[in-house]
Amino acid sequence: MGLGKQPAEVTREEILEALKDVRDPELHRSIVELDMVKDVTVANGVVTVHAVLTIGGCPLRETIVEAIRNRVAALGGVRQVEVKLGVMTPEERQALIQKLHGDHGPQARAAFLNPDSPTQVIAVASGKGGVGKSTVTVNLALALARMGYRVGVLDADVYGFSIPRMLGVQGTPTVIDQMVIPLEKDGIRVISMGFMVDEKEAVIWRGPLLHKALTTFISEVHWGELDYLLIDLPPGTGDVSISIAQILPSASMVIVTTPQIAATSVAQRAARMAEKVNMAVVGIIENMSYYLPTPGSEPVYIFGQGGGSQLSQMLKVPLLGQIPLDPLIREGGDQGKPVVSAHPGSLAAQAFMEAAKRLVAQVPVRAQVAPRG
Ligand SMILES: Nc1ncnc2c1ncn2[C@@H]1O[C@H](COP(=O)(O)OP(=O)(O)OP(=O)(O)O)[C@@H](O)[C@H]1O
Ligand SMILES: [Mg+2]
Repeated sequence: MGLGKQPAEVTREEILEALKDVRDPELHRSIVELDMVKDVTVANGVVTVHAVLTIGGCPLRETIVEAIRNRVAALGGVRQVEVKLGVMTPEERQALIQKLHGDHGPQARAAFLNPDSPTQVIAVASGKGGVGKSTVTVNLALALARMGYRVGVLDADVYGFSIPRMLGVQGTPTVIDQMVIPLEKDGIRVISMGFMVDEKEAVIWRGPLLHKALTTFISEVHWGELDYLLIDLPPGTGDVSISIAQILPSASMVIVTTPQIAATSVAQRAARMAEKVNMAVVGIIENMSYYLPTPGSEPVYIFGQGGGSQLSQMLKVPLLGQIPLDPLIREGGDQGKPVVSAHPGSLAAQAFMEAAKRLVAQVPVRAQVAPRG
Protein backbone atom coordinates (compact mmCIF):
# COMPACT_ATOMS: atom_id res chain seq x y z
CA MET A 1 0.00 0.00 0.00
CA GLY A 2 2.70 2.43 1.05
CA LEU A 3 4.10 2.68 -2.46
CA GLY A 4 0.71 2.98 -4.13
CA LYS A 5 -0.69 6.09 -5.72
CA GLN A 6 -1.32 8.91 -3.22
CA PRO A 7 -5.00 9.89 -3.15
CA ALA A 8 -5.69 13.42 -4.34
CA GLU A 9 -5.65 15.97 -1.54
CA VAL A 10 -9.03 16.61 -0.05
CA THR A 11 -10.57 19.99 -0.76
CA ARG A 12 -12.02 22.51 1.67
CA GLU A 13 -15.40 22.14 -0.02
CA GLU A 14 -15.39 18.38 0.45
CA ILE A 15 -14.63 18.83 4.12
CA LEU A 16 -17.39 21.39 4.62
CA GLU A 17 -19.77 19.07 2.82
CA ALA A 18 -18.78 16.20 5.10
CA LEU A 19 -19.12 18.34 8.21
CA LYS A 20 -22.77 18.90 7.37
CA ASP A 21 -23.26 15.39 8.74
CA VAL A 22 -21.95 16.38 12.14
CA ARG A 23 -24.74 17.46 14.43
CA ASP A 24 -24.55 19.42 17.61
CA PRO A 25 -25.49 16.76 20.16
CA GLU A 26 -27.78 19.08 22.08
CA LEU A 27 -29.28 21.16 19.32
CA HIS A 28 -29.74 18.28 16.88
CA ARG A 29 -28.75 20.37 13.89
CA SER A 30 -25.78 20.30 11.59
CA ILE A 31 -22.82 22.32 12.89
CA VAL A 32 -22.37 23.78 9.40
CA GLU A 33 -25.96 24.86 9.24
CA LEU A 34 -25.63 26.44 12.68
CA ASP A 35 -22.50 28.36 11.56
CA MET A 36 -20.39 26.62 14.13
CA VAL A 37 -17.67 25.89 11.56
CA LYS A 38 -15.69 29.07 11.15
CA ASP A 39 -12.88 27.95 8.90
CA VAL A 40 -11.27 24.91 7.35
CA THR A 41 -7.71 24.77 6.08
CA VAL A 42 -5.88 21.96 4.33
CA ALA A 43 -2.11 21.67 3.99
CA ASN A 44 -0.34 18.47 2.94
CA GLY A 45 -3.16 16.28 4.12
CA VAL A 46 -3.39 18.03 7.48
CA VAL A 47 -6.88 19.38 7.98
CA THR A 48 -7.55 22.08 10.54
CA VAL A 49 -11.15 22.77 11.46
CA HIS A 50 -11.90 25.94 13.39
CA ALA A 51 -15.19 25.55 15.18
CA VAL A 52 -17.02 27.67 17.71
CA LEU A 53 -19.15 26.34 20.53
CA THR A 54 -22.25 28.04 21.84
CA ILE A 55 -20.86 28.50 25.32
CA GLY A 56 -17.48 28.16 26.97
CA GLY A 57 -17.06 24.97 28.99
CA CYS A 58 -19.68 23.23 26.89
CA PRO A 59 -20.08 19.81 28.54
CA LEU A 60 -20.25 18.07 25.19
CA ARG A 61 -17.16 19.65 23.63
CA GLU A 62 -15.29 16.35 23.49
CA THR A 63 -18.23 14.71 21.73
CA ILE A 64 -18.25 17.41 19.08
CA VAL A 65 -14.47 17.28 18.60
CA GLU A 66 -14.62 13.50 18.22
CA ALA A 67 -17.45 13.69 15.73
CA ILE A 68 -15.59 16.28 13.63
CA ARG A 69 -12.38 14.26 13.75
CA ASN A 70 -14.06 11.01 12.76
CA ARG A 71 -16.06 12.51 9.95
CA VAL A 72 -13.07 14.29 8.40
CA ALA A 73 -10.73 11.34 8.90
CA ALA A 74 -13.17 9.17 6.95
CA LEU A 75 -12.45 11.25 3.82
CA GLY A 76 -9.73 10.10 1.47
CA GLY A 77 -6.45 11.99 1.43
CA VAL A 78 -6.53 13.13 5.06
CA ARG A 79 -3.43 12.43 7.12
CA GLN A 80 -4.30 14.31 10.26
CA VAL A 81 -7.19 16.28 11.70
CA GLU A 82 -6.78 19.22 14.06
CA VAL A 83 -9.81 20.76 15.69
CA LYS A 84 -9.46 24.26 17.10
CA LEU A 85 -12.30 25.35 19.31
CA GLY A 86 -13.49 28.81 20.15
CA VAL A 87 -16.63 30.26 21.66
CA MET A 88 -19.36 32.16 19.83
CA THR A 89 -19.63 35.89 20.29
CA PRO A 90 -22.91 37.13 21.76
CA GLU A 91 -23.95 38.20 18.25
CA GLU A 92 -23.20 34.78 16.83
CA ARG A 93 -25.21 33.19 19.63
CA GLN A 94 -28.16 35.45 18.92
CA ALA A 95 -27.99 34.52 15.25
CA LEU A 96 -27.95 30.84 16.21
CA ILE A 97 -30.95 31.25 18.47
CA GLN A 98 -32.79 33.04 15.66
CA LYS A 99 -31.97 30.17 13.38
CA LEU A 100 -33.21 27.56 15.84
CA HIS A 101 -36.38 29.47 16.40
CA GLY A 102 -36.90 29.49 12.69
CA ASP A 103 -38.01 25.88 13.26
CA HIS A 104 -41.32 27.08 14.52
CA GLY A 105 -41.70 30.45 12.86
CA PRO A 106 -41.48 33.85 14.50
CA GLN A 107 -43.43 32.76 17.59
CA ALA A 108 -40.81 30.18 18.21
CA ARG A 109 -39.66 30.93 21.70
CA ALA A 110 -43.16 30.01 22.76
CA ALA A 111 -43.55 27.25 20.22
CA PHE A 112 -46.00 25.28 22.28
CA LEU A 113 -48.08 28.32 23.03
CA ASN A 114 -48.80 28.37 19.36
CA PRO A 115 -51.82 26.28 18.42
CA ASP A 116 -50.19 25.60 15.03
CA SER A 117 -47.24 23.86 16.63
CA PRO A 118 -46.72 20.50 14.96
CA THR A 119 -46.02 18.84 18.30
CA GLN A 120 -48.77 16.88 19.99
CA VAL A 121 -48.75 17.90 23.61
CA ILE A 122 -50.29 15.39 25.99
CA ALA A 123 -50.72 16.03 29.68
CA VAL A 124 -50.94 13.02 31.97
CA ALA A 125 -53.31 13.76 34.83
CA SER A 126 -55.19 12.08 37.64
CA GLY A 127 -57.71 13.04 40.26
CA LYS A 128 -55.46 11.99 43.11
CA GLY A 129 -51.88 11.17 43.91
CA GLY A 130 -50.01 7.93 43.70
CA VAL A 131 -52.00 6.29 40.90
CA GLY A 132 -48.97 6.06 38.65
CA LYS A 133 -48.99 9.22 36.51
CA SER A 134 -45.24 9.60 36.47
CA THR A 135 -44.77 5.90 35.81
CA VAL A 136 -47.22 6.07 32.93
CA THR A 137 -45.66 9.27 31.53
CA VAL A 138 -42.17 7.78 31.49
CA ASN A 139 -43.13 4.43 30.03
CA LEU A 140 -45.48 5.89 27.43
CA ALA A 141 -42.69 8.23 26.38
CA LEU A 142 -40.29 5.33 25.97
CA ALA A 143 -42.91 3.32 24.11
CA LEU A 144 -43.48 6.22 21.69
CA ALA A 145 -39.73 6.58 21.21
CA ARG A 146 -39.48 2.86 20.46
CA MET A 147 -42.13 3.37 17.81
CA GLY A 148 -39.78 5.89 16.21
CA TYR A 149 -41.34 9.16 17.36
CA ARG A 150 -39.38 12.11 18.64
CA VAL A 151 -40.46 12.48 22.22
CA GLY A 152 -40.04 15.00 24.99
CA VAL A 153 -41.06 14.77 28.62
CA LEU A 154 -41.83 17.80 30.73
CA ASP A 155 -41.96 17.18 34.44
CA ALA A 156 -44.38 19.81 35.69
CA ASP A 157 -44.88 18.27 39.09
CA VAL A 158 -43.31 21.13 40.99
CA TYR A 159 -44.32 19.57 44.29
CA GLY A 160 -42.38 16.36 43.81
CA PHE A 161 -40.26 15.84 40.75
CA SER A 162 -40.11 12.14 40.07
CA ILE A 163 -39.22 12.05 36.38
CA PRO A 164 -35.45 12.53 36.84
CA ARG A 165 -35.25 9.56 39.19
CA MET A 166 -37.60 7.37 37.15
CA LEU A 167 -35.76 7.99 33.90
CA GLY A 168 -32.40 7.96 35.59
CA VAL A 169 -31.43 11.35 34.25
CA GLN A 170 -29.54 13.91 36.26
CA GLY A 171 -27.64 17.07 35.61
CA THR A 172 -28.13 20.68 34.85
CA PRO A 173 -29.33 21.59 31.38
CA THR A 174 -27.18 23.82 29.24
CA VAL A 175 -28.55 27.33 29.02
CA ILE A 176 -27.62 29.40 25.98
CA ASP A 177 -28.72 33.00 26.46
CA GLN A 178 -31.88 31.98 28.36
CA MET A 179 -32.57 29.10 26.03
CA VAL A 180 -32.74 25.89 28.05
CA ILE A 181 -31.58 22.74 26.31
CA PRO A 182 -33.28 19.58 27.58
CA LEU A 183 -31.23 16.70 28.90
CA GLU A 184 -31.49 13.42 27.05
CA LYS A 185 -32.05 9.84 28.07
CA ASP A 186 -32.72 6.90 25.78
CA GLY A 187 -33.46 9.32 22.96
CA ILE A 188 -36.03 11.20 25.02
CA ARG A 189 -35.57 14.91 25.71
CA VAL A 190 -36.32 15.65 29.31
CA ILE A 191 -36.94 18.79 31.28
CA SER A 192 -37.85 18.87 34.91
CA MET A 193 -38.33 22.02 36.92
CA GLY A 194 -36.31 19.95 39.37
CA PHE A 195 -33.23 20.44 37.15
CA MET A 196 -33.54 24.17 37.53
CA VAL A 197 -34.75 24.99 41.00
CA ASP A 198 -34.17 24.04 44.55
CA GLU A 199 -36.96 21.69 45.54
CA LYS A 200 -37.47 23.49 48.80
CA GLU A 201 -37.97 26.68 46.86
CA ALA A 202 -40.48 25.21 44.47
CA VAL A 203 -43.05 24.30 47.05
CA ILE A 204 -43.53 27.87 48.15
CA TRP A 205 -44.55 29.01 44.69
CA ARG A 206 -48.21 29.80 44.61
CA GLY A 207 -50.79 31.23 42.28
CA PRO A 208 -49.58 34.00 40.00
CA LEU A 209 -45.92 33.50 40.84
CA LEU A 210 -46.12 29.83 40.00
CA HIS A 211 -48.00 30.55 36.81
CA LYS A 212 -45.38 33.07 35.78
CA ALA A 213 -42.52 30.71 36.57
CA LEU A 214 -44.13 27.90 34.59
CA THR A 215 -44.85 30.15 31.62
CA THR A 216 -41.31 31.48 31.50
CA PHE A 217 -39.84 28.09 31.99
CA ILE A 218 -41.92 26.33 29.38
CA SER A 219 -41.39 29.01 26.79
CA GLU A 220 -37.63 29.03 27.27
CA VAL A 221 -37.03 25.36 26.64
CA HIS A 222 -35.69 24.57 23.21
CA TRP A 223 -37.17 21.17 22.42
CA GLY A 224 -36.23 21.11 18.77
CA GLU A 225 -38.65 19.18 16.62
CA LEU A 226 -40.84 16.79 18.54
CA ASP A 227 -43.71 14.57 17.56
CA TYR A 228 -44.96 14.19 21.12
CA LEU A 229 -44.41 16.12 24.31
CA LEU A 230 -45.73 14.35 27.40
CA ILE A 231 -46.32 16.36 30.54
CA ASP A 232 -46.30 14.81 33.97
CA LEU A 233 -48.74 16.86 36.01
CA PRO A 234 -48.84 17.02 39.76
CA PRO A 235 -51.69 15.10 41.37
CA GLY A 236 -55.10 16.67 41.53
CA THR A 237 -56.55 19.66 39.83
CA GLY A 238 -54.64 22.47 41.45
CA ASP A 239 -52.78 25.53 40.25
CA VAL A 240 -50.15 23.80 38.17
CA SER A 241 -52.54 21.70 36.13
CA ILE A 242 -54.70 24.72 35.41
CA SER A 243 -51.67 26.85 34.52
CA ILE A 244 -50.29 24.21 32.19
CA ALA A 245 -53.62 23.92 30.46
CA GLN A 246 -53.68 27.68 29.98
CA ILE A 247 -50.08 27.88 28.84
CA LEU A 248 -50.48 24.99 26.40
CA PRO A 249 -54.00 25.34 25.08
CA SER A 250 -53.42 22.83 22.30
CA ALA A 251 -52.60 20.09 24.78
CA SER A 252 -54.79 17.08 25.21
CA MET A 253 -55.09 14.98 28.32
CA VAL A 254 -54.76 11.36 29.30
CA ILE A 255 -56.26 10.43 32.66
CA VAL A 256 -54.70 7.74 34.79
CA THR A 257 -56.94 5.91 37.21
CA THR A 258 -56.99 2.73 39.25
CA PRO A 259 -59.54 -0.05 38.80
CA GLN A 260 -61.61 0.68 41.90
CA ILE A 261 -65.06 1.87 40.98
CA ALA A 262 -64.78 4.23 43.93
CA ALA A 263 -61.79 5.92 42.28
CA THR A 264 -63.83 6.88 39.25
CA SER A 265 -65.45 9.92 40.82
CA VAL A 266 -62.04 11.18 41.87
CA ALA A 267 -60.65 10.67 38.37
CA GLN A 268 -63.62 12.54 36.98
CA ARG A 269 -62.33 15.66 38.71
CA ALA A 270 -59.42 15.67 36.31
CA ALA A 271 -61.87 15.47 33.43
CA ARG A 272 -63.86 18.37 34.84
CA MET A 273 -60.73 20.44 35.10
CA ALA A 274 -59.88 19.57 31.49
CA GLU A 275 -63.32 20.72 30.44
CA LYS A 276 -62.96 23.97 32.37
CA VAL A 277 -59.77 24.82 30.52
CA ASN A 278 -60.93 23.43 27.17
CA MET A 279 -58.50 20.55 27.03
CA ALA A 280 -59.64 17.45 25.20
CA VAL A 281 -59.45 14.22 27.16
CA VAL A 282 -58.22 11.65 24.64
CA GLY A 283 -58.14 8.50 26.71
CA ILE A 284 -57.94 6.68 30.00
CA ILE A 285 -55.17 4.48 31.27
CA GLU A 286 -56.06 2.11 34.04
CA ASN A 287 -53.03 1.35 36.16
CA MET A 288 -52.51 -1.45 38.66
CA SER A 289 -55.32 -3.31 36.90
CA TYR A 290 -54.41 -6.84 37.89
CA TYR A 291 -51.59 -8.96 39.24
CA LEU A 292 -50.28 -12.23 37.90
CA PRO A 293 -48.69 -14.19 40.76
CA THR A 294 -46.90 -16.39 38.23
CA PRO A 295 -46.71 -16.07 34.45
CA GLY A 296 -49.84 -17.53 32.90
CA SER A 297 -51.74 -17.78 36.17
CA GLU A 298 -55.21 -16.35 36.77
CA PRO A 299 -55.09 -12.59 37.31
CA VAL A 300 -55.78 -11.31 40.81
CA TYR A 301 -57.70 -8.04 40.95
CA ILE A 302 -56.09 -6.47 43.97
CA PHE A 303 -57.68 -3.05 43.49
CA GLY A 304 -60.99 -4.27 42.14
CA GLN A 305 -62.16 -4.11 38.58
CA GLY A 306 -63.95 -1.93 36.11
CA GLY A 307 -62.87 1.60 37.11
CA GLY A 308 -61.10 2.32 33.84
CA SER A 309 -63.87 1.14 31.59
CA GLN A 310 -66.49 2.91 33.67
CA LEU A 311 -64.61 6.20 33.40
CA SER A 312 -64.07 5.68 29.69
CA GLN A 313 -67.82 5.19 29.20
CA MET A 314 -68.67 8.22 31.29
CA LEU A 315 -66.29 10.46 29.38
CA LYS A 316 -66.89 8.74 26.03
CA VAL A 317 -63.19 8.31 25.39
CA PRO A 318 -61.29 5.07 24.84
CA LEU A 319 -59.62 3.01 27.51
CA LEU A 320 -56.11 3.11 26.08
CA GLY A 321 -54.62 0.46 28.30
CA GLN A 322 -54.70 -1.64 31.42
CA ILE A 323 -51.34 -1.84 33.07
CA PRO A 324 -50.67 -4.74 35.42
CA LEU A 325 -49.40 -4.34 38.95
CA ASP A 326 -45.85 -5.57 38.56
CA PRO A 327 -42.81 -5.29 40.82
CA LEU A 328 -40.71 -4.72 37.68
CA ILE A 329 -42.54 -1.43 37.22
CA ARG A 330 -41.81 -0.25 40.75
CA GLU A 331 -38.19 -1.42 40.69
CA GLY A 332 -37.66 0.19 37.29
CA GLY A 333 -39.01 3.46 38.64
CA ASP A 334 -36.75 3.37 41.67
CA GLN A 335 -33.65 2.49 39.68
CA GLY A 336 -34.10 4.80 36.73
CA LYS A 337 -34.64 1.83 34.41
CA PRO A 338 -38.24 1.99 33.26
CA VAL A 339 -39.80 -1.34 32.42
CA VAL A 340 -40.39 -0.50 28.75
CA SER A 341 -36.66 -0.14 28.11
CA ALA A 342 -35.32 -2.50 30.82
CA HIS A 343 -37.73 -5.41 30.20
CA PRO A 344 -39.29 -4.82 26.79
CA GLY A 345 -40.56 -8.40 26.63
CA SER A 346 -42.48 -8.22 29.90
CA LEU A 347 -46.23 -8.14 30.11
CA ALA A 348 -46.03 -4.70 31.70
CA ALA A 349 -43.89 -3.30 28.87
CA GLN A 350 -46.24 -4.79 26.30
CA ALA A 351 -49.20 -3.20 28.07
CA PHE A 352 -47.47 0.20 27.78
CA MET A 353 -46.61 -0.42 24.10
CA GLU A 354 -50.27 -1.28 23.42
CA ALA A 355 -51.41 1.86 25.22
CA ALA A 356 -48.94 3.97 23.24
CA LYS A 357 -50.26 2.55 19.95
CA ARG A 358 -53.81 3.38 20.92
CA LEU A 359 -52.72 6.84 22.00
CA VAL A 360 -51.14 7.45 18.60
CA ALA A 361 -54.36 6.32 16.95
CA GLN A 362 -56.26 8.87 19.05
CA VAL A 363 -53.73 11.66 18.69
CA PRO A 364 -51.91 11.09 15.40
CA VAL A 365 -48.69 12.86 14.57
CA ARG A 366 -49.38 16.15 12.86
CA ALA A 367 -48.73 16.11 9.12
CA GLN A 368 -46.38 19.11 9.12
CA VAL A 369 -43.72 17.12 10.90
CA ALA A 370 -41.36 15.80 8.29
CA PRO A 371 -40.67 12.08 8.68
CA ARG A 372 -37.09 11.32 9.53
CA GLY A 373 -34.82 10.03 6.81
N1 LIG B 1 -48.37 -0.82 37.67
C1 LIG B 1 -47.55 -0.69 38.70
N2 LIG B 1 -46.99 -1.77 39.30
C2 LIG B 1 -46.16 -1.64 40.37
N3 LIG B 1 -45.81 -0.45 40.89
C3 LIG B 1 -46.32 0.65 40.33
C4 LIG B 1 -47.21 0.61 39.20
N4 LIG B 1 -47.53 1.87 38.87
C5 LIG B 1 -46.89 2.67 39.72
N5 LIG B 1 -46.17 1.95 40.62
C6 LIG B 1 -45.37 2.46 41.72
O1 LIG B 1 -46.22 3.21 42.56
C7 LIG B 1 -45.58 4.38 43.04
C8 LIG B 1 -46.38 5.61 42.64
O2 LIG B 1 -46.31 5.76 41.23
P1 LIG B 1 -46.07 7.17 40.54
O3 LIG B 1 -45.03 7.93 41.26
O4 LIG B 1 -45.92 6.95 39.10
O5 LIG B 1 -47.50 7.81 40.84
P2 LIG B 1 -47.95 9.32 40.63
O6 LIG B 1 -49.41 9.27 40.30
O7 LIG B 1 -47.07 10.01 39.68
O8 LIG B 1 -47.72 9.89 42.09
P3 LIG B 1 -47.77 11.43 42.54
O9 LIG B 1 -49.21 11.75 42.62
O10 LIG B 1 -47.10 11.42 43.86
O11 LIG B 1 -47.07 12.23 41.49
C9 LIG B 1 -44.19 4.34 42.48
O12 LIG B 1 -43.34 3.78 43.43
C10 LIG B 1 -44.30 3.43 41.26
O13 LIG B 1 -43.10 2.75 40.98
MG1 LIG C 1 -45.91 11.73 39.94
